[in-house]
Amino acid sequence: MKIEIQNLSKSFGKNKVLQGVNLTIEKNKSTIILGKSGCGKSVLLKLIYQLLQIDDGHILYNNKKNVDIDRFGMLFQYGALFDSLTVGENIAFVDYINNKLNFRNKVANSLKEVGLSPDIHKKYPAEISGGMKKRVALARAIYKKPDVIFLDEPTTGLDPVNSDMINELILRIIQKKKMTAITITHDIQSALKTGHNYHFLNEGIVEDSGTCKKLLQSKNKFLNEFLLGVKNLQRNK
Ligand SMILES: Nc1ncnc2c1ncn2[C@@H]1O[C@H](COP(=O)(O)OP(=O)(O)OP(=O)(O)O)[C@@H](O)[C@H]1O
Ligand SMILES: [Mg+2]
Repeated sequence: MKIEIQNLSKSFGKNKVLQGVNLTIEKNKSTIILGKSGCGKSVLLKLIYQLLQIDDGHILYNNKKNVDIDRFGMLFQYGALFDSLTVGENIAFVDYINNKLNFRNKVANSLKEVGLSPDIHKKYPAEISGGMKKRVALARAIYKKPDVIFLDEPTTGLDPVNSDMINELILRIIQKKKMTAITITHDIQSALKTGHNYHFLNEGIVEDSGTCKKLLQSKNKFLNEFLLGVKNLQRNK
């Protein structure tokens, strides 16, 4: 799905978060959104997903203003699994809350897609590791077989080995299923590995865009400051 964002603005009270964002998400490509903490990346994703209302501007989905949000899947920042539900109920959440009962096979398929054993469907989030939780969150995002997948910090909080595994998985899933992917990440290795295009948000607008292959060669001052900041942060961990 091609998604065009035109002159998009969003404020919360006096906090002007997005102030005229223009960017295009290309169909079947993996797009990375970069930017400092608090710059409005998650807000942008929620506006595209229609979880928040637009103040000003437009979003066009394949040239149309309306979209069936069943075509979207989201991996929320922090994974956001429900502690009181089993892994299976978390993955099939849309069916579970609608009292649909026959989701066992679909859950098993989603678990297989993310490299987990179908047997873990009975476990609770507290019983599985951080890396497994991210996989379960990914399994939930792909459960409805969406056209567009939103990934908000899919590797944050994981060690390098687990991050790499999640990156490989994301890459495999979006290629195999020909999905359009929009990923927010502070993990530059992950952006280089899984992204085709990037957009860098700064001070409420898109400050720089390009292909991920050329991300590290960008001459944009603000982007370079951001990349340096991320590098220093990782070094000090
Ligand atoms: N529902 C909301 N109500 C009020 N303010 C909000 C709401 N959601 C986000 N904000 C504010 O919007 C700004 C951008 O938040 P957002 O979560 O998009 O940042 P982010 O770029 O995703 O940051 P991070 O990298 O830390 O996740 C912040 O100042 C935040 O406090
Ligand atoms: Mg965020």
